Amino acid sequence: MPSEDSIQSIENSAAQVIEGTDSLAGLEAVKTQYLGKNGIVTEQLKRISSLPVEKRKEFGQALNRIKIQIAERIQARHENLERAFLDQQFRDQSIDVTLPGRSGTLGTIHPISRTLRRMEQIFDRLGFRVAEGPEIENDYYNFEALNIPANHPARAMHDTFYIHDHGLLRTHTSPVQVRFMQTHRPPIRIIAPGKVFRCDSDVTHTPMFHQLEGLSVDSDVTFADLKGVIIHFIHEFFEAEPKVRFRSSYFPFTEPSAEVDMGCVFCGGEGCRICRHTGWIEVLGCGMVHPEVLKHGSIDPDKYTGYAFGLGIERLTMLRYGVRDLRYFFNSELSFLRQF
Ligand code: DAH
Repeated sequence: MPSEDSIQSIENSAAQVIEGTDSLAGLEAVKTQYLGKNGIVTEQLKRISSLPVEKRKEFGQALNRIKIQIAERIQARHENLERAFLDQQFRDQSIDVTLPGRSGTLGTIHPISRTLRRMEQIFDRLGFRVAEGPEIENDYYNFEALNIPANHPARAMHDTFYIHDHGLLRTHTSPVQVRFMQTHRPPIRIIAPGKVFRCDSDVTHTPMFHQLEGLSVDSDVTFADLKGVIIHFIHEFFEAEPKVRFRSSYFPFTEPSAEVDMGCVFCGGEGCRICRHTGWIEVLGCGMVHPEVLKHGSIDPDKYTGYAFGLGIERLTMLRYGVRDLRYFFNSELSFLRQF
């Protein structure tokens, strides 16, 4: 017959095993191991009937006592483990609202858009409003109405993308001049920024680039007004006061015409690689609107005069930010774009 001692040793070993169990599933297994149908305590209880009658009561009571003790230990351990498990879960899932947030990556404004906004602001302060025209143009607005008839040699300079007989991608923003004059009366004071297209692609040319056209038409507009506006624009845009010169030139849609150079902002006019050692950098084309062009815009050249100018936005962006290669604007290289 099992002694008090051996019963006590069952209890002791159970106590050890229970304390050493650190998962709820493990504890469930321990419960089965001791109190289950074929558990250690249950096996002992089954033996009671084989004991002499006078021993049965004492042995049964002892077994029942440790059975209760073991059940209580398991229950207590269960509660401990469950609390620890919940605590851990709270800790894992809790949010520290004092931590700094994770910010998303912000995009940046493309240098061309940035330059364009700058230009729009400068001209806005001079009273110019933004006008738009279609990128798909026709022969009339892109050439004819700008005094560039068929077979005019200037057409050869334009490397036009033709779509069909009379449809083409505009090669400059100048067609917006005539479109605007046809639908508005003087005084006119507009800028027309936008994409233009030329069938040309090398280190200094891309098939698509951006221009900004300017047009002012009124009863007494003179070349002096044009000069004032252009010089003011260059000084504002470059936040410097380089020298500016108007060099006589030719465009079919202006008469007289000029190209505008400014003193090289990189070498201060001394001569460097950027200005090809001339000390001057060409920035735009301009002139007094040709009477033929005014007529195409249904404006009487005897009553009104106007000036126009056109500049390349990529070119001015390169000059302002010291960008050396035109292709940076179009190859989506993030390390370049993030600088703006
Ligand atoms: N349309 C010309 C070009 O693409 C630029 C230009 C020159 C525009 C003189 C003008 C102007 O309005 O007066 O090269």
